[in-house]
Formats: sequence, C-alpha cells, structure tokens
Amino acid sequence: MKKVGVSILGLGVVGGGTYKILKEHAEFYRATQCVDIVVESVFERNKERVEALGIPPEKLASNIAEVVLDPDVNIVVECIGGVTDAKDYVLDALNAGKTVVTSNKELFCKYWHELERAAKHHNAGLFYEASCVGGVPIIRTLLDGLQANEISSIVGIINGTTNYILTDMAEKKISYSEALAQAVALGYAEADPAADVEGYDAAYKLSILASLAFHTKVPFNKVFREGITDVSPTDIADGAALGYALKLLAVGKNTPAGIEVRVHPAFIEKGHPLASVGGSYNAIFVTGDSVGDIMLYGRGAGELPTGSAIVSDIIYAATHTELHYATFKNTAAPDKNVNFVSDFASAYYLRMTVADEPGVLAKIAAVLARGNISIDKLTQRVSDDGKATLVVVTHMTHEAAVKSAVAKVTATGLAEVNSVLRVIL
Ligand code: HSE
Repeated sequence: MKKVGVSILGLGVVGGGTYKILKEHAEFYRATQCVDIVVESVFERNKERVEALGIPPEKLASNIAEVVLDPDVNIVVECIGGVTDAKDYVLDALNAGKTVVTSNKELFCKYWHELERAAKHHNAGLFYEASCVGGVPIIRTLLDGLQANEISSIVGIINGTTNYILTDMAEKKISYSEALAQAVALGYAEADPAADVEGYDAAYKLSILASLAFHTKVPFNKVFREGITDVSPTDIADGAALGYALKLLAVGKNTPAGIEVRVHPAFIEKGHPLASVGGSYNAIFVTGDSVGDIMLYGRGAGELPTGSAIVSDIIYAATHTELHYATFKNTAAPDKNVNFVSDFASAYYLRMTVADEPGVLAKIAAVLARGNISIDKLTQRVSDDGKATLVVVTHMTHEAAVKSAVAKVTATGLAEVNSVLRVIL
C-alpha cells in the first residue's frame, strides 16, 4: 500500500479539522483508497492547540526547514492563512519538491502564478480545493466534472458570514451590527471580518473560480466589489415585499463582450434556487453549454467541511501521478486580448426619500427616462412629515446609466437616494 507523509502547517479551525479527519479516517482511507496517510509533523506556535488535538510532542516541528527537509513528508498542508509567512512556507515546500495543499484563498488568488511557477519548476503538485467554498467541491467539479463544457456563467453565494448576516437580518428583523456580532461569535468570520462584509473574501474566491471556469487569468483587481456594510433592514423588508431575497452574490460571466466579474449585494427572486440558501450555507450555480445548469450546495466554512476539501486534495495527490496545472497562461496580469466588462447589465432597486408634492414623481421618472431606464415596479409610502419613500425597480439597464441617473436626481435635489441595489432576474 502506498504510504504518504503529511505535515500540517497551522492548527487553527481548518488545520485542526484536517488533523481530526485524518486521524479518525486513517483506516477507512487504507481500505477504500489504498493509501496510508500518516501525519509526520505539524507546525504550530500555539502549543495549546497541539495538546488539545492530542498530537504527540515529538510531531511538533520547530521550524519550516524541519518540515521541508524531512524525506518522509510528501505533502505539506498550509492552513496558516494570510500572505506573508504562508507564502514563504508554501514556496519553501514547493522549492523542496513537496506537493502543497492549501486552503488560503487570499494567498492563492494573489500569488497563484508564482506558486505555480515554483511547483512546475520542481515537479510538485499544487492543490487548492479548500480555498473556495469550504466543503463544496467546486474546483474539482470545474476541473474534472465539467471540462467538457464551455462555461458561460458562474453565480453563487460564496461567503458564509455574509449569508448568515443577511439571513438573520431578514428572518429575525435585527440590525446589521447585531447579526455581524452573532456571525463572529459563531466563528464563521475571517480573523478580520472586514474581509467578509466588504466582499474581499468572495472576490478572492471569484477570481480563482472565474479563472478556472473561463480558462483565462481573472485577476482580483478586475473583480468589481461592493460589500454589505450599508445594507439596511428597510431594504431587506422592502425587497421581501416585492418577492426578493437579498444575498451577497458573486457573479462571473463569459459574454461576447468580454468577462464580467462582480461581487455585490443583490436581490434575487424568491423562486430562484439561490434565494433559499440560508444561514452560513453556500451554493454555486454553474451554466455550461452541454450540461446546462447545475447547482452545488453545502457548507462553505467550518473545520470539518473545509477539512473535507483538504483531505480530498491529499487523497487526490496521493492517488494521481500526473501533475496538472492551470489550463491558461498563469501570469499576474490578464491576457491582453481579453476584455473585462465594467458597465454590466442588471435591473436595479432604488429607494429614495422625496417631498410628497405634486410633480416630484413625474420629474424623477423623466430623469430615468432620459437615461433610457425603464421602470418595472414602483411603490410609495407616505409618512407624517410630508415625505414619501419611493421604491423603484427598473427593467434591465446598465450600471453607468443608473449611476448617472442617481447623480442627476441627487444633484437637482429631487430626492435623497438612500439605496441602490442590483436585482438578478
Ligand atoms: N469567512 C469565510 C466565509 C470562511 O464566511 O465564507 C470560508 O472561506
């Protein structure tokens, strides 16, 4: 039976979960996968974590050199996070010819090209299923399940923290800050929750997934990003009354005009399969030219779901001899022949506060009409202070047209525009 030695760098949530799975399932993997996976060492500065997992002290490496120079270690699992130490350690491991399995989406998104160059140079494997959408096997699906397809679209809820917050705000009618505090307490959020709520985490993942899906480099700086920090319970309630659920969506499209990649809060009609994905769950909707639509759903974070993705990569690396790298030229910059669409098409939800006076509505409609923006739905509620709240949902239009119309409505004092949110039809 093939024996594979593993070293785990970092025993936080993901590294700890990986260790637990490997320990509990060692016999199962010997029986089902014909591979004997042995944790040869761990590298972790917090000794309490090592003790809590019951790891014998002699397995604790005192520095990275001990790991990468150990001939019994075939696979180095990076679960440290961040892009400083983690990058050095991953490069050290690859340069020593070790296969690397990582859960680090920021590192992978920003330095994939450098890591791949080192891996190729030293004939080493590089695996990253756990970097995107935790336990949901989206990367293996794109690489080994959907490779027969030209993929035109990948749309998903790929951040558990923000989905938990938006679900809680909608269901419990609580504020954004109350819901955020809950998500942090439950351990869903990144070390700095700004990475989640400002959309960085989802944008890192979308950069990786869109590159794989569309077979071209989609750098992080091409992803339009807007977080959920300004979302208000009023919008969630107004959207619900119109039949919409609010989600932080990652949208990747390969269109004749170019590639469109964006992360932002968006209303989805409640009948859409993504609308019912609640709490910390994630889901991804992929459209391929032969397969049509498929959707993957599951836990996008957590020790065992993310550990599941890491261990799957370890088993894959242990049971496949041929090395595979990106299907495209993997450089920091995108292919200069590829166009990225920034003025994307969408429908829009606008909430405005106006003076409850004759002609105001007509003037706002005229500004929208001049921008070639057609109104699909309009609701109004009047308050005692002589003001009215207008909620407008447009037909399909473009980002630039809406931004320009909102600027005109604001500049002329016709309305205070409280919210602009995209609507996925
Ligand atoms: N903070 C991330 C999330 C963890 O909430 O989805 C998994 O990447």
